[in-house]
Amino acid sequence: NSYEPCDFVLFGTLGDLSRRKLLPSLYQLEKAKLIHPDTTIVGVARHEMELEDYIAEVHTNLVKFGDKELCEETWERMKGRLHYACVDMKDIGSYCVLEDHVDPARTMVCYLATPPSIYGDICRGLHGCKIIDSSVRVVLEKPIGHDLESSKVINEQVAEYFDEKQIYRIDHYLGKETVLNLVALRFANSIFATNWDHNCIDHVQISVAESVGIEGRWGYFDDAGQMRDMVQNHLLQILSLVAMEPPTTLDADSIRDEKLKVLKALRPINSSNISDSTVRGQYTAGFVKGEEVPGYLEEEGANTQSRTETFIAIKAEIDNWRWAGVPFYLRTGKRMPSKVSEVVIYFKRQPHNLFGDSFKNLPPNKLVIRLQPDEGVEITVMNKVPGLTSSGSMDLQKSKLNLSFSEAFADDRIPDAYEKLLLEVMLGNQALFVRRDEIEQAWTWVDSILEAWKSSNEPPEPYQAGTWGPVDSIGLLARANRSWYESK
Ligand code: BG6
Repeated sequence: NSYEPCDFVLFGTLGDLSRRKLLPSLYQLEKAKLIHPDTTIVGVARHEMELEDYIAEVHTNLVKFGDKELCEETWERMKGRLHYACVDMKDIGSYCVLEDHVDPARTMVCYLATPPSIYGDICRGLHGCKIIDSSVRVVLEKPIGHDLESSKVINEQVAEYFDEKQIYRIDHYLGKETVLNLVALRFANSIFATNWDHNCIDHVQISVAESVGIEGRWGYFDDAGQMRDMVQNHLLQILSLVAMEPPTTLDADSIRDEKLKVLKALRPINSSNISDSTVRGQYTAGFVKGEEVPGYLEEEGANTQSRTETFIAIKAEIDNWRWAGVPFYLRTGKRMPSKVSEVVIYFKRQPHNLFGDSFKNLPPNKLVIRLQPDEGVEITVMNKVPGLTSSGSMDLQKSKLNLSFSEAFADDRIPDAYEKLLLEVMLGNQALFVRRDEIEQAWTWVDSILEAWKSSNEPPEPYQAGTWGPVDSIGLLARANRSWYESK
């Protein structure tokens, strides 16, 4: 990794992602003095704009979406880095203006916070004005495609001008502290490393629940659905980190090789096993956190015939030596009772009961990794209740070993995922970015499920907003005498 100056060129600098996430994250990096003093930030959009107006716009957005009160010293430093370039991204000729803003002697980082449909145009435009060489890094936002075929088209368009070593595909979950902590937990602690397989683990649950609905994005969401919006990327990335073999080192390809092997080992879900392995739902009107909310089909701009899923539960099987017979249950949905993401590892029950009839069904140990909010790690254990009894028998009680990040790391701020990822791009470290073969393998698995749903012609099951999804989602686990972990 190198801490060197770069020209950070932000395409789509006036768009939602830049305003809400990318510019506030750059500001936080500035505040932490993690941006090289000579780095510049070049905002690019298609509107004509004076630099001073752009600076005012960035300031407004930082106050709106970042720290309410900006640190003057930090802002002065950041302001000094800002440039603005007006580029019509579909017009190859208009890219030459960038020559006035970037220094060919330095690394150029091009962040494409634009619709993927114009990634190809941007790469062609950059190539046309001859400011790119093999040191340029290009950052791509999701969604990369709508299915395997369309993702290949986008990847090909970019690959025409950039080598895989130059491409940084974002999955913002890989920048979350607690997702990164999965690697630390597994490989820095022998207590977990040695118990992490089918001998000790009964099953794994990965839940990413959101209380929000569609948030004014009906058009985008209806085309994508929860499968493309959340499972193809975020949930499969979490699953890969939980299930992968130990990489030899933490370098980019060692980790990505191992994640890819997990994705390749996922048992295909198709028409033959779709109804046993998946549940899809769509929310109806209800109450979330005490507030009345409309159903998916009543949201603004809705097509009332839509069959797009807003909830999914999947029983995924990984056909390899480590995970044979250990299902990974995935669950994600909009308009659930609260926002909570967690991984729960259910260990196997004890083989023999020493504690008499009242403890016939000793509950299994659980390792709960709370990804967000209230980040932390919790282990449930059985404990002797202190005290004496007339029968001399032992009373047991379920207890928790609880590591709460807000208590254990009270002095440390948890950075936003984008802060981490922007820093990694500037350092030139690809480990937290998704390689082309991972994306394409994930699409292969997801496409088969989408295809099977389509041919079954079944509508999604309704569930009331403010609940944990359709009843069948409970059945998916109940069939094997299991149940979803009840989040707090
Ligand atoms: C995005 C999805 O990738 O992730 C959104 O497009 C979703 O629909 C969001 O709300 C969730 O991210 P986070 O960081 O809030 O869990």
